[in-house]
Amino acid sequence: MARSRRPLIAGNWKMNGLTADALALAGAVAEGVKQAGWTDRELLVCPPSTLVMAIAKAVKGSGLLVGGQNCHAAASGAHTGDIAAEMLRDAGASHVIVGHSERRTDCGETDAVVRAKAEAAWRAGLLPVVCIGESLAEREAGRTLSVLETQLKGSIPAGSTASRLVVAYEPVWAIGTGKTPTTAEVAAAHAHIRRVLGGLIADANAVRLLYGGSVKGGNAAELLAAGDVDGALVGGASLKADEFLAIAKAA
Ligand code: 13P
Repeated sequence: MARSRRPLIAGNWKMNGLTADALALAGAVAEGVKQAGWTDRELLVCPPSTLVMAIAKAVKGSGLLVGGQNCHAAASGAHTGDIAAEMLRDAGASHVIVGHSERRTDCGETDAVVRAKAEAAWRAGLLPVVCIGESLAEREAGRTLSVLETQLKGSIPAGSTASRLVVAYEPVWAIGTGKTPTTAEVAAAHAHIRRVLGGLIADANAVRLLYGGSVKGGNAAELLAAGDVDGALVGGASLKADEFLAIAKAA
């Protein structure tokens, strides 16, 4: 892993967390970050939007970063139930996940929608974590690399640079299933993503590429050591402080 790419270990809490438990979880992760005193890696938690402000306040000064899980492309307006990137920023977020496969599936988000959300993140001063990944059917059809290429080209805005973009590769079939690709498959996907990025942006070599999908304390070291992997986007295992910190230690 190139030194210039500081690993990012991000927790996507998804639709989990009520105030008391969420504050306890964030507090325990923040305490772990503080004790470890890491300067060579970053840790991020992305709670549900109802908790972003309380958690950002609670972990302030610990070094733990806080992000949103989604944002609308517009800054404000008649979009009932949605949340603007500016609102996340106002609540204390520094990052936002866009284009997670659950939103692509549940909410019909297309590459163009995801790209608009990434642009909205920039407008608000947030760093977007753009997610891409193939389905099981696409993998079995041998289409993984072409699917990743299409999603990547459609989802990242013009003007992307390494300091304005994080890409997360999350094979849909590996999310929440306990199944993971082999390290060779992860390395092949990440190498392809970086090659495609190379045709789109000048400093592609410095863009952080996260792997996501059934990352746990027990498999993190192996997955994070795969070529071109610069961190992890963690779902289920990010809901336990010790497990999430174990993944961060493995980075
Ligand atoms: P799991 O770690 O639960 O498989 O979820 C991965 C994910 O979707 C993170 O965004």
